[in-house]
Amino acid sequence: MNSQQRPCQLAVLVSGNGSNLQAIISRIESGELNAKIACVVSNTPEAFALTRAKTHGIPAVIHQNNGYTSRKAYDAALVEILRGYEVELVVLAGYMRILSEVMISAFPHAIMNIHPALLPSFPGLHAQQQALDYGVKFSGCTVHFVDCGTDTGPIILQAVVPVFQDDTDETLSARIQAEEHRAYPEAIRLFTGGKLLVDGRLVRIQS
Ligand code: GRF
Repeated sequence: MNSQQRPCQLAVLVSGNGSNLQAIISRIESGELNAKIACVVSNTPEAFALTRAKTHGIPAVIHQNNGYTSRKAYDAALVEILRGYEVELVVLAGYMRILSEVMISAFPHAIMNIHPALLPSFPGLHAQQQALDYGVKFSGCTVHFVDCGTDTGPIILQAVVPVFQDDTDETLSARIQAEEHRAYPEAIRLFTGGKLLVDGRLVRIQS
């Protein structure tokens, strides 16, 4: 990491627990990631991730759906919030809303998501249970850039875990989450270091 470089300004968008947010905070606080979380934005006031943000002195913003006539109108207001914090990279971490093209076009190749399966298998909700029901022997997580589809954007990193015969949704999810907490900070580190080149569907990692 080049310590002379200004930290990359992140926004982390959440709806729930925020264990991935916590992993990113830890890597920043330990100096492994040259980034600053400019704000955490939740679409619900109940997200525990908001408490995590406040504990670490990070601005925590609640941006609810009330009063917006469309997804685009909601996202336009979200873009304004993020511009206000001079955000360079948007990190979706358990954010339970689909982004409209308003957000996608405002941050081209600068929105990441993490999905708890090896995409393109098992997109959408309940990915771990989908994997169990299908009977796969390996699953994992995928960090990808976000496009207008559901979990369809160019893949940055993947991590693989075994699936055991006696796994439940909970045991498999826990095994995948341990990998998420390594893969997401690593993908952000590559982005902040200017190492990710998007070439159509391919994300090339520069050495
Ligand atoms: C993770 O499993 C992630 O893959 C999915 O949402 C979950 C968020 O977990 N997109 P947390 O809120 O970061 O603990």
